[in-house]
Amino acid sequence: MNTENRGRLTKDGIRIYDPSDSAGMLAAGKLAAQILDAMSEHVFVGQTTAAIDKVITDTVDAAGAKSATIGYKGYQHASCISVNHVVCHGIPSDKKLNDGDIVNIDVTVIVDGWFGDTSRMYVAGKLPRKAERLIQVTHDSLMLGIEAVKPGNTFGDIGHAIQAYVESHRMSVVRDFCGHGLGRVFHAPPNVVHYGRPGTGAVLEPGMFFTIEPMVNLGRAETKTLADDWTAVTRDKSLSAQFEHSVGVTETGVEIFTLSPAGTFHPTYG
Ligand code: MF3
Ligand code: CO
Ligand code: CO
Repeated sequence: MNTENRGRLTKDGIRIYDPSDSAGMLAAGKLAAQILDAMSEHVFVGQTTAAIDKVITDTVDAAGAKSATIGYKGYQHASCISVNHVVCHGIPSDKKLNDGDIVNIDVTVIVDGWFGDTSRMYVAGKLPRKAERLIQVTHDSLMLGIEAVKPGNTFGDIGHAIQAYVESHRMSVVRDFCGHGLGRVFHAPPNVVHYGRPGTGAVLEPGMFFTIEPMVNLGRAETKTLADDWTAVTRDKSLSAQFEHSVGVTETGVEIFTLSPAGTFHPTYG
């Protein structure tokens, strides 16, 4: 069987993988999470995001894995590193981190053909109170979205859980970017949007693999992409945060492939 065509497709074009395929997703997800665990000590005042990306590139190589982002649509780095009002797809650069900067690092690796995609937040120096609230709400919104993952629920249930929580804290959910199916490919159906109405959208079935990766802004939801064609920023320059897990629907609920082996997915503050 062609390895990219395993399982079957639902009427919505969503691939249903075999229960045994979760082992491959777990191996890929674990490596991506371990890489993020190791980044905690590399985020500090005066550090450049290019230096962080270099460590990630070397770690992926040393693990005998492949970066999914190098060469993806012309992207040239092993990570996206998004600072402060950068919403996502920040390009590693020689600009130094400042005290109080909040930083999302997003890594996707390929292990034996399986994709593991995860991101989380870090801080350089002392975390400002407003940023702390934003990071907390964003993290918790992802976990609430994951709690909605079980057979019979819908993608709208996931989006609704995230949106309702974020908006109850008077923050906004980015609509211009979404989560995605993944497995033997990086980006596959469905678009996993982080807003929605309960009971709408495709029904979740065991064997679906996808990411949930809410981006939350302190200000308005609108984004714009800079002239480099990658960097997405908040239009109003407000702070933005994001967390991402790769998950699978199981017979009884959900399996998170990208859990932090060190238990540091949620940043711990001094
Ligand atoms: N990892 C990102 C995601 O969550 C995609 C990055 S694509 C890149 O889907 F080319 F910008 F790296
Ligand atoms: Co993703
Ligand atoms: Co990602």
